[in-house]
Order: sequence, then C-alpha cells, then structure tokens
Amino acid sequence: MTLRLSVIGTGYLGATHAACMSSLGFEVVGIDTDPAKIALLAQGKVPFFEPELEELLAQEIASGRLTFSTDISAVADCDVHFICVGTPQKAGSLAADLTYVDASLEAVAKVTKKGALVVGKSTVPVGTAARLRARLQEINPDADLAWNPEFLREGFAVDDTLRPNRLVVGVTSDKAENILKEVYASNLKDGTPWVRADLPTAELVKVAANSFLATKISFINAMAEVCEAAGGDVTVLAQAIGYDPRIGNRFLQAGIGFGGGCLPKDIRAFMARAKELGADQALEFLREIDSINLRARQRIIELVRKDLLEDLHGKKVAVLGAAFKPDSDDVRDSPALDIAAQIHAAGANVVIFDPKANENAAKRFPALTYANNVEECLKGADIVLHLTEWKQFRELDPAQLKGLVNNPIVIDGRNALHRESWKAAGWHFRALGRADI
Ligand code: UGA
Repeated sequence: MTLRLSVIGTGYLGATHAACMSSLGFEVVGIDTDPAKIALLAQGKVPFFEPELEELLAQEIASGRLTFSTDISAVADCDVHFICVGTPQKAGSLAADLTYVDASLEAVAKVTKKGALVVGKSTVPVGTAARLRARLQEINPDADLAWNPEFLREGFAVDDTLRPNRLVVGVTSDKAENILKEVYASNLKDGTPWVRADLPTAELVKVAANSFLATKISFINAMAEVCEAAGGDVTVLAQAIGYDPRIGNRFLQAGIGFGGGCLPKDIRAFMARAKELGADQALEFLREIDSINLRARQRIIELVRKDLLEDLHGKKVAVLGAAFKPDSDDVRDSPALDIAAQIHAAGANVVIFDPKANENAAKRFPALTYANNVEECLKGADIVLHLTEWKQFRELDPAQLKGLVNNPIVIDGRNALHRESWKAAGWHFRALGRADI
C-alpha cells in the first residue's frame, strides 16, 4: 500500500516537499498553523516566489493526492510525518529558536497512529533529534523518529527536492531506514547517493555543509579585500583557483556576501551549540566568516561615500535588487536590502527595484522608495548599485541606461555585470575586489 505522508510547516521547505512528494504518487497532507497560508496553498497558490512550484502545486492539488489543513488531526492516519518548520535565530542570542519544532513534535505525537515515523527536516542544533525522539516515545511508545536534513536552495527548490545530490538519513533502526527508502525509492533507483548516519551526525551534516558554503564565500570575499589593497582582480583570481578540482569554481562569486534565512543563522546557531558542548574553539573561525561577510556590506557603503564625496544627503541612489539572491523574493537578512537601508539612514534618497522582492522589502523597510521598473529606478540617479544579480540586470544595455541617470557611476556588488561593456558605454564602473581601472 502507498504510504500516506504529512508535512508539518508549509514554508519554502515544507510547501516544496509536500508538492514534490505528491508528484511521486504519495498522498500528502500539509499542515500549518497560519490559516492564510493554508488557504492560499489549498487554492494552488504559493505565498512566495519559487520557480516551478506553483505549477507543480496546482497540478498535485488537482490530482487529489495533495491536501492542506490547519487541523493537526488531519495527519492521524499518516505513516510518515515530515517536520519542516522554521528554526529562526532567537532574539538576543546566536542560538536557534526551537519553539516551532518542539510544538510540532508535541502536536504530531499526540495524534499519530502506532508505528508511524516522524522525520525531522528542519535545521536544528545537534542533540535535538535524540531529545525529540525520547519525548515522542514518552507520548507514543510505538512511534519512531529519524532525521533527514534538507539541502534545497531557494530558486531551485523543486529540482533540488526531486533530484537531490545526496540523501542523508539519521536513524536508530533498520525499520526506520527502510521506511525512508520506500519514500525515496525513485531517487534510489536513479542512483542518488544514500548516507545512513546516526542522529547527531545527520543533524551535523546539515550545519557542516552550510558552514562550508559560508566559508567558501567569505574566503573569496577576504581575497577580494586583499585584491583591492594590492590592485588585483578577484574575479580572475577566483577563476584561476577554481580550475583546481580540489577547490572547484562554485560559490566563489565575490561580492556583498551571503544572506537569506539559512547561512547566516545556521553558522551562528552552530557556534552557539558548539559552545554548549564545550567545543567552541573548533568553530571560532566561523566568527571570522561572519565578520568578513558583514564587512562586505560596509565596503560597498564606503565605495558609495568615496564616489559621492562623503555627503549622501539629497543624493539619489538607485539600487538594483532587494532579494538575498536572484530567483527569490526572500529578503530575510538580505545584504542588498541591508545596504539600501543603511544608505537611506545616512540621508540619501534610495530607490529600489527588484523584479520579485519589492513587496517583501517594502514590508520590512516602508520608508524606502520602490520603483516599478529599472528605468524608473535609475531616472536622475547619482549612483547605481547592482546588489542582486537577476538575469534581467545582467542583460541591461548600459548605453541605453546612461541617458537616464544624473551621473553614470555604477557599483557592481555581485561582480556579475560585464565591466567592459559598461565602461565602453561611458560608465564609471566600480566593483568589490577589482582594482579601479
Ligand atoms: C543554502 C544552501 O545553499 C542550501 O544547500 C541549504 O539547503 C539552504 O541554505 C538551507 O539551509 O535551507 P539558500 O539559502 O537558498 O541555500 O542560498 P544559497 O544559494 O546558498 O545562497 C546564499 C547566499 O550566498 C546568497 O545571498 C548568495 O547571494 C550568496 N552567495 C552565493 C555569494 O555571495 N557568492 C557565491 O558564490 C554564492
């Protein structure tokens, strides 16, 4: 008999997981405590921007396999429950807030049938899974808990879920592993690497992977600082070191650094947890990774001040991009929006345009001005900042844009614009980690 699955928490991770599992033929019920979100999802509408997801969601709802509810008792007869709720940074601390994870476990434990498997996918501090498993079995001795971290990227969520580059399962029994093998049978058939681990290792794999990615980005941004000081070019440096397969050329894009709902808070929560475990020295370097990352935002502001001669009052600063990365409308800890807000606070008239994130950005920073398109954003600008590398921005015609601005100065915060074309069109072009030539 086909397994019935539940997905608790329908944000980026949960909504995608629910739609993808349904597309594999499982019956899936998605649960969230937010009635507005559930109402939208039930109509086949995704409350955030994620390529391909809305089409898939609508298709799966129409198939009858995928349903949504705010009522936890709707999961009572499911065989497997995926916990996909958020673990944001706790206010006033580096640690993760586990309120939603704990509440989900309690809720599921009380309604689930005997023999069901609860599977954690949220990113949690190591040790959480063992604690939750003990609590689950206190309430429901026949149920079991496994940990199956998720590695999906926003912007590629559907593809990463349906075609992951590895599956990691933290289990304490063959029975739990076999249930997960049934869930992921199609991936196993396709040869996706399968890693069986114990619970703490499975939890650690996730934060270790995100820490490594954050380290790679901050490494190249540190090189950018040195390149600037020495008159070098970080884009050429990145290309050259990236040809070494031991290094690889991905995640070496120097610029204003990493943001979003995962990398920044995950490295901080990892440090906080290591401290609790007495292993804080091992992760001291992550503090530096965080500092390098935040410094990149300040370096852009310094460049603006240099080009606008210190006084930003009354200057129009056009900002292209507000999302933390392209193909997303997510502005959580977005470097682009943080920079825009700081420049605004310094007295400039900041006008932002993002193809998808204007609305979310305006909710967070209503005092900034939001343009409807690139032209409106750039009109009369004293400086242009390119802060999120949407394809649409990379393809702009610099010659055409020059006529719109007051002063043709552009700072490429993502090292993604074609410098030669912009310079040929008469722009004064600046970028992080590239000598001003
Ligand atoms: C990240 C991880 O890549 C996923 O594997 C993980 O599953 C996810 O976090 C999570 O924990 O849920 P995501 O937050 O979607 O995914 O974003 P990334 O693609 O990793 O980008 C993060 C940030 O790094 C963005 O702000 C991006 O602009 C920046 N970045 C990325 C750089 O500055 N340079 C690069 O070379 C690459």
